[in-house]
Amino acid sequence: MKWLCVVSLLSGLAISPAFAQDTSSATQGIHAQQRDAFVSNLMKQMTLQEKIGQLRLISVGPDNPKEAIREGIRQGQIGAIFNTVTRPDIRVMQDQAMQLSRLKIPLFFAYDVLHGQRTVFPISLGLAASFDLEAIALSGRVSAQEASDDGLNMTFSPMVDITRDPRWGRVSEGYGEDTWLVSKIARVMVDAYQNGDPSKPGSVMASVKHFALYGATEGGRDYNSVDMSPLRMQQDYLPPYKAAIDAGSGGVMVSLNAINGIPATANPWLLKDLLRNQWGFSGITISDHGAIKELIKHGVAQDARDAVRLAITSGVDMSMSDEYYDKYLPGLIKEGLVSESDIDRACRDVLNTKYDMGLFKDPYTHLGPVGSDPQDTNAESRLHRAEARVVARKTMVLLKNEHQTLPLHKQGTIALVGPMADSQRDVMGSWSAAGVAKQSVTLLQGMKNAVGDKAKIIYAKGANITQDKSIIDYLNLYEPAVEFDPRPAQQMIDEAVNAAKQADVVVAVVGESQGMAHEASSRADITIPQSQRDLIAALKATGKPLVLVLMNGRPLALEWESQRADAMLETWFSGTEGGNAVADVLFGDYNPSGKLPMTFPRSVGQIPMYYNHLNTGRPFNKENPGKYTSRYFDSANGPLYPFGYGLSYSSFALSDFTLSSPTMARNGKITASVTLKNTGKYDGATVVQLYIQDETATVSRPVKELRNFKKVMLKAGQAQTVELPIVEDDLKFYNAKLQWGAEPGKFNVFVGLDSDNVQQQSFTLK
Ligand code: NOJ
Repeated sequence: MKWLCVVSLLSGLAISPAFAQDTSSATQGIHAQQRDAFVSNLMKQMTLQEKIGQLRLISVGPDNPKEAIREGIRQGQIGAIFNTVTRPDIRVMQDQAMQLSRLKIPLFFAYDVLHGQRTVFPISLGLAASFDLEAIALSGRVSAQEASDDGLNMTFSPMVDITRDPRWGRVSEGYGEDTWLVSKIARVMVDAYQNGDPSKPGSVMASVKHFALYGATEGGRDYNSVDMSPLRMQQDYLPPYKAAIDAGSGGVMVSLNAINGIPATANPWLLKDLLRNQWGFSGITISDHGAIKELIKHGVAQDARDAVRLAITSGVDMSMSDEYYDKYLPGLIKEGLVSESDIDRACRDVLNTKYDMGLFKDPYTHLGPVGSDPQDTNAESRLHRAEARVVARKTMVLLKNEHQTLPLHKQGTIALVGPMADSQRDVMGSWSAAGVAKQSVTLLQGMKNAVGDKAKIIYAKGANITQDKSIIDYLNLYEPAVEFDPRPAQQMIDEAVNAAKQADVVVAVVGESQGMAHEASSRADITIPQSQRDLIAALKATGKPLVLVLMNGRPLALEWESQRADAMLETWFSGTEGGNAVADVLFGDYNPSGKLPMTFPRSVGQIPMYYNHLNTGRPFNKENPGKYTSRYFDSANGPLYPFGYGLSYSSFALSDFTLSSPTMARNGKITASVTLKNTGKYDGATVVQLYIQDETATVSRPVKELRNFKKVMLKAGQAQTVELPIVEDDLKFYNAKLQWGAEPGKFNVFVGLDSDNVQQQSFTLK
C-alpha cells in the first residue's frame, strides 16, 4: 500500500481526451447531423405538453412522493430525475418512461457527485491542495465510474467558482482562489467525468457550476448578490467556467446569485450573449434548486408565472425541482408572452443532451441488463479505497513543524483527542454523495491501523465542536449531523488532559464539523470555536508536544493556534480513507506535499485576502511599512499562510534561477530554469511555482499570478533542474476595452515554493 502511485492506479481508469476535442471536426459534424435529424423527427411527434415535460428536473422528496413521480413519468411530464442514486430505484423509473409513456423518451439521472460517489475523496478544496492534476483526475475517474455504475448519467460538478472569501461555506466545494489553477482543474475534471464520451459506461456528463460568479457573494454570505466590474469578471472569475465548457462540459448549472443587479436565472446577457453566442456552448442549462421561484424575492418577477417567463426567455432550459414550468408555460405561450420557439430550443437542448448520453441508443446504458444490479449497493467491493488513500495523503498541507515534532514514532503512548478524531461523518466532508459514513475511516482507526501493537493510543473526545447550542441546532436542522456530548465541558477537558499526561505526544483533531463548511453555512467568525480552544489551551498547559490535526472546509484564522501548537497539519475533510491517509502522513509513511489553494488570513477582518491582488498606489512594504500605505494598523499585515504554502518533513532550496532569454518575441517562448534541491533528510515532493507580473500595462495588473507549476519528487540530498516554459498566452489579460492580449514591455517572473517567498527575474516582450 505504502508506495502505491497514481499512475499505476490510473492505468485501469485511463482518461480519454475531451469529448469536444478528441473527435475530429468531421466526426463531430456527422454526430451533430445525425443527432439533429433524430431530435427533429422526435420533436415533430411531441405535443407542447410533452416538450415542456422534458424541461422538468424532478427530485423525490416529501412534496414529490415516488408514486406521483412515476405517474408524471408515464404522462411524459418529467425529463430527468435528481437525487435517485441506486440502480434498482433508477431502473424502476426508467421502466416507467420506456414501457408506459407515449413516446418512450428516456429520462436522465443526475446527482451531486463532487468528490466521490460511493468512495468519498477529499473535498474539492483539498484536492486542489494536492497540486497534482493526475491525482485530481483519478478522483474524477473513480467518481464517474462509481456514479455510472449506480446508473447516473450526469453529475452537478465541477464547481469552479473562484472564492476569495473563506466566510462562504461553499469554498469547500471549489478549488480555491486562483483562476489559472482552477481553470486547469476544471478541464481535468470534465475530462475525467466524461472520459471522451459521456455515453460510455463508466462516464458521466459534467455540469459545471455555478454560472456565474457565485464565489463572489458579498460578505461571503450564501445566496447573496454579486457586484463586479467587467474587467474582474472576465479576468478572474469567468475563465474556469469557460475552461470547463471548452473541455466539453455537457451541462451548465445557473447560479442563484444576482450579477450586477440581474439574477443569473433571469440574465440573457449571461446565458445567451456570453454563454451561447460568445463561448459557443451548445449543451443544456439547468437552473439551481428553486431558483426560478426565487426571482420573485429577487424583485425582478411579479409572481411565479412572471418568473417562469423570465427564466425561459433568458435561456434556462431545465427547471430544477420544477413547480412552475409545467404549470405556467402553456398559458404564457397562449398569451404570446413566451414563444413556442423558446420551448423548442430548450427541449432540443434536453433531447440533444440525452442523445449525447447515449440514452436513445440504450436507455439502460449505465444500468446494464435486468438482474445485473449489485446485491448490496453499499458492498465493500464497490469501493476504491486504495485510490482514495493515495489521493488523500497528497492533499494534506503541513503548516507548522517545530522541533521536528512530526513525523511521529510508532512507539510509546500517543494521546488522540478532539471532537473529530473519531467522527466517521465529519471525515467525509459535505456533499459526500452516496458515501456511507459507516465505511469511512476516522483518525482513531487510522492510527490504530498504523501502529498495531507497537504503540499505545489513548483516545478522549475532549470537547464538543462547539458548546453553542444554537449552532448545534442549526447544523442538525435537517439531519442529525453533529453529536453533542452532554457531559460538562470541563469534565471532557479533564479526561483529555489526563490522557495527555500519560502520553509522549498529543494529537488533537480540531476545526469544523463537515456541516460548518457547506451550503448555507457561512460564518462571520472563521476561528476554531471556543470549546475547542479551551481544549487546546489545557493540552498546551500539560507541556507535552502538541500536534493539531485540522479538519475544516475553508481557510481558518489560526494565529492563536499557531502560537500554541508544535505542529499543525491541514487535512481538510479527507474522505472514506481519510483516517488512514492522515495516519500515513503523521507517521511519515508519506511525506506531506500539499500546498494551500487559498490564502489563510490572520483574521476575519482582513477578508477578502488573496495573493494576486493589485499593487495600489501605496503598497504596503514589510521592510519599510510607513503610515500612509495600504495596511491595517491594528494587525500584522499579510496572510498567516500564503497561497501555495506548505512544508515538508524535508527541506528544499531553490537556486540558479535563470531565464533562457531577456526578451520574448511575439508568439515566442522562453524557459525559466531553477535548481531544486532536497536539502533535508527525507525523500519527498514539493511544488515549484512560477508567477508572472506585467509591471506596467494599460490597466493595473496583479502583483503576481500563477502561470505554471511542477510537483517534483526528490530523494534526500538530490537536486534537479526544473524547467518551466513561458509563452505569450501566459502574459495575456483583458484591457480596458475587454480585449484579450499581451502588451509589450517588462515582465517580472518569480519562482518559489509558495507565493510569498520568491526569487525574481525579468524579461521584455517585444
Ligand atoms: C443547490 C446547490 O446550490 C447546487 O450546487 C446543487 O447542485 C443543487 N442544490 C442540487 O443538489
